Amino acid sequence: MAANGWHRVAAESDVEDGHPLAAEIGRDTVLLARVGGRIYACAGKCTHYGAPLADGALRGRIITCPWHNARFDVTNGQMVSPPALDSLRCYEVRVESGDVYVRPTERVESRPSIGEGATYAIVGAGAAGNAAAETLRRDGFAGRVLLITGEPDRPYDRPNLSKDFLAGTAEPDWIPLRPEGFYSEHHIELLTGRRVVSVDCAARLLRIEDGETIPFDKLLVATGGKPRELKVPGAELDGVRLLRTKADAEAIVADLDGAASAVIVGGGFIGMEAAAALAERGVQTHVVARDSVPLSRVFGERIGRWLQSVHEQEGTVFHLGRQVDAIEGSGRLERVILSDGTSLPADVAIVGIGITPAVDWLSGTGLVVDGAVPVNERLETGVAGIFAAGDIASVPDPRLGERIRVEHWVVSERHGQHAARAMLGAEEAYTDVPFFWTQQHGKSLSYAGFARTVDRIAYRGSVEGGDFLAGYYEGDRLRAIASLWRDAEFIAASEILRAGGNVSFEDFSTDTVNLCEMSS
Ligand SMILES: Cc1cc2nc3c(=O)[nH]c(=O)nc-3n(C[C@H](O)[C@H](O)[C@H](O)COP(=O)(O)OP(=O)(O)OC[C@H]3O[C@@H](n4cnc5c(N)ncnc54)[C@H](O)[C@@H]3O)c2cc1C
Ligand code: FES
Repeated sequence: MAANGWHRVAAESDVEDGHPLAAEIGRDTVLLARVGGRIYACAGKCTHYGAPLADGALRGRIITCPWHNARFDVTNGQMVSPPALDSLRCYEVRVESGDVYVRPTERVESRPSIGEGATYAIVGAGAAGNAAAETLRRDGFAGRVLLITGEPDRPYDRPNLSKDFLAGTAEPDWIPLRPEGFYSEHHIELLTGRRVVSVDCAARLLRIEDGETIPFDKLLVATGGKPRELKVPGAELDGVRLLRTKADAEAIVADLDGAASAVIVGGGFIGMEAAAALAERGVQTHVVARDSVPLSRVFGERIGRWLQSVHEQEGTVFHLGRQVDAIEGSGRLERVILSDGTSLPADVAIVGIGITPAVDWLSGTGLVVDGAVPVNERLETGVAGIFAAGDIASVPDPRLGERIRVEHWVVSERHGQHAARAMLGAEEAYTDVPFFWTQQHGKSLSYAGFARTVDRIAYRGSVEGGDFLAGYYEGDRLRAIASLWRDAEFIAASEILRAGGNVSFEDFSTDTVNLCEMSS
């Protein structure tokens, strides 16, 4: 019963410290959390893909989403870190006679107004660029925000391209990150189809392909990666596709119309996800990869073998330890020839053999070192006022004591958010633990941390049973973790990594050692 908008949602005693609770009001889910003795309420579904937040982990006032680890402050609903882009709706809470009542509140955001008259340009409207533009506005930047992309589309959900989009199961409105009109509403000048060809760091001037020049006061470089091309005879034939952009994915989907068989070149994440998507479409799919076990370089051989078996059960055929020697066909590809002479009939070939940072337009600036853009802990380059984020950036990792470059969606968004705050003057260092997820045949694996070399892997649960947590060790040091269906332990172990802590190999391998208690 609602009186003056108040709904009774729980007994006060049911809301325990550290244990978030879900309650229903009609069709809405409310999250109840006790912090410092006081009960707070906010929307119970993550603003990213709608995960039930009560299944996440609450540490202090921060709840971490169980699916892709977005973080929110439960005391005010604020989004603390992506992949969610929006904050949670908040509820007013009243406790009376041992019962908890809530009613929705209107959020009143008071923003400082900073930087009037200045122009902050962002080159690249992907994960990092979009997050940066939104953060500038959310944190009160009052000057011009230019979000520039060479692509014709407004920012979109790139990870989805190799998953539901390719499988044909994505709703059209899942792909753009924001609805039409969002950018103009937030006074973000989104310049699409405008490839930047150079930057003059001293004059603070960008040059666009058509000759136009754009002045800026501060700049964020966030042009991501460009896919490596296959260098074999026939790679230029119709139907041989790279997969980086929405246009690439649309071209593949068009090619798949009536296709009976496909070859995926590369057994990395994009290749494996694409293989799963094509198998779901009923296309006979072959994966060709140089490695003897797919994804073993990241997950280790045991998990890689198990994943391979999941794909094989769905009909995908693997050609491992081999490479493509040639692609044949007249005008359009007809078959793919492997290094052992095997000839695979193919209507479509998708090449997923890695990326290189998109740095061509920065040549001569001194910003590029070893093919990437090194930054300091605030994500600022060697040139004051010029920042870099996402796949292109090589960022100091406080745990390893060296710069690392990772190619993950969530990391890029968090870089973008952090760089925007640094552009506004924040001094904090970027210290987040890298995180990514991959989804293949309904299995969503999460990975956190960074391991350059792995000496041994500890396991909990059963890899072959599809329910596990893995810990990757360099010597005695836990460097990274991977999990399937073990969200609470995964988040706990991520928190330990974030805090610079460690778990001994023996403790990690023992299911009865409670990681959640160790991390709190
Ligand atoms: C198909 C696919 C699936 C993926 N799945 C996952 C996943 O499941 N999980 C995960 O963690 N990561 C995933 N990734 C990786 C993730 O998408 C990237 O790490 C992330 O997008 C990098 O963000 P970014 O902002 O650095 O670059 P991008 O998102 O690539 O954005 C770069 C932007 O710069 C623009 N640009 C480039 N050059 C210029 C120029 N000269 N002038 C103007 N604009 C320019 C581009 O058009 C684009 O708008 C996937 C990648 C792909 C391609
Ligand atoms: S559903 Fe919460 S982070 Fe993706």
